[in-house]
Amino acid sequence: MTKKIRKAVFPVGGLGTRFLPVTKAMPKEMLPVVDKPLIQYAVEEALEAGIEEIIFVTGRGKAAIEDFFDHSFELRQVLGERGKSAELHTIEFPVLEAGSIVYTRQQDPLGLGHAVWCARELVGDEPFAILLADDLVMADTPCLKQMVDVFEETGGNVVAVEDVPPEHTNRYGILDVASDDGRLAEVKGLVEKPDPAVAPSTLSIIGRYILLPEIFDYLSERKKGAGGEIQLTDSMARMIGQAPFHGLRFEGTRFDCGDKAGFFEANVAFALARPELHDQIKDIVKTYAAEDGH
Ligand code: UTP
Repeated sequence: MTKKIRKAVFPVGGLGTRFLPVTKAMPKEMLPVVDKPLIQYAVEEALEAGIEEIIFVTGRGKAAIEDFFDHSFELRQVLGERGKSAELHTIEFPVLEAGSIVYTRQQDPLGLGHAVWCARELVGDEPFAILLADDLVMADTPCLKQMVDVFEETGGNVVAVEDVPPEHTNRYGILDVASDDGRLAEVKGLVEKPDPAVAPSTLSIIGRYILLPEIFDYLSERKKGAGGEIQLTDSMARMIGQAPFHGLRFEGTRFDCGDKAGFFEANVAFALARPELHDQIKDIVKTYAAEDGH
C-alpha cells in the first residue's frame, strides 16, 4: 500500500529578481492575485489535496508569511465590533491548526534543489509534495489532488507537466518520455532548461511535484547545475529507474506568476472568474484593448 502524502514543502526563499523592486522587502509569494497572496492559493490547493503539514522554506521576508498565516487579534476584534462578518471570514481562512505549519530557513538562495534539501529533517522518510506558489493553477480539481490520485495509482514520483512552445524549452525542466498515453507520460530522462535544438520534448515541469524521500540522498551532494544553482531537476533525474516516474498532463490552466505578463494574466483570469468582479473587469479590459487600437 502506498503511503499517504501528508506533508508539503513550499520553497519561498528565491530572490524574485524579476519582480524588483517590490521583492526587495517581501517574497514574491506574497504578491496578490485579486485579493489573495499567491501563497494562499498554493496552501489552499495543498489542503484540498489532503495535506496535513505545511513546511515553508523561507528566506528574506519570512515575517510577512508568518504573520499572514497567524491570527490577527486586532483585525479580528475591529472587524467583529464593526459587524464586518464577510471580511472577518476572509482573514480566518488561511489560519491552520497550531503546530501544522513549520518554518525553516534557506540561509543562502543556492537554488530550488537546495531549498528542498533544507526541509529534509522536517519531511523525514516519507513521500511528500512540493508546491511553487509562483505557478498558480486554475482547475476544477486542484492540480495537487490530481497528482495525489496518480501517486496512489503508481506509488512513484509524479510531476505536473504541460506542453510549451519549442522555443521556450530553455526556461523549464523538460521530460524525456519513454511512453505516453496522452495523460500520463512515463519519464526516462529529465533535463533542466535545454536549448530548443537539443530538448528531448516540449513537455515542461510546472511547480508541482510528489517525490519519494530518496531525493534527499541526491540533493545532499549539493551539486551545481544549470545557472550555477543546485537544481531539483538534476536530483530527480537520478531517481529515474528506481521507482515509477510520471509526468501528469494536469487538467487546468497554469499561470507563471514569477513573470510579469503571466502575473498580470492571472489577475485578469481570476478576477473574471469572480462573479462580483466579472462585468467590471471585462469592461476595463475591453476599454484598454480598444484604446490600444485592437
Ligand atoms: P525562480 O527560478 O523563479 O527564482 O525560483 P526566483 O529567485 O524566485 O525569481 P527570479 O527568477 O529571480 O525572479 C523558482 C522557485 O524556487 C524557489 C523560489 O522561491 C520559487 O518558488 N527558490 C529558488 C528557492 O526557494 N530558493 C532558491 O534558492 C531558488
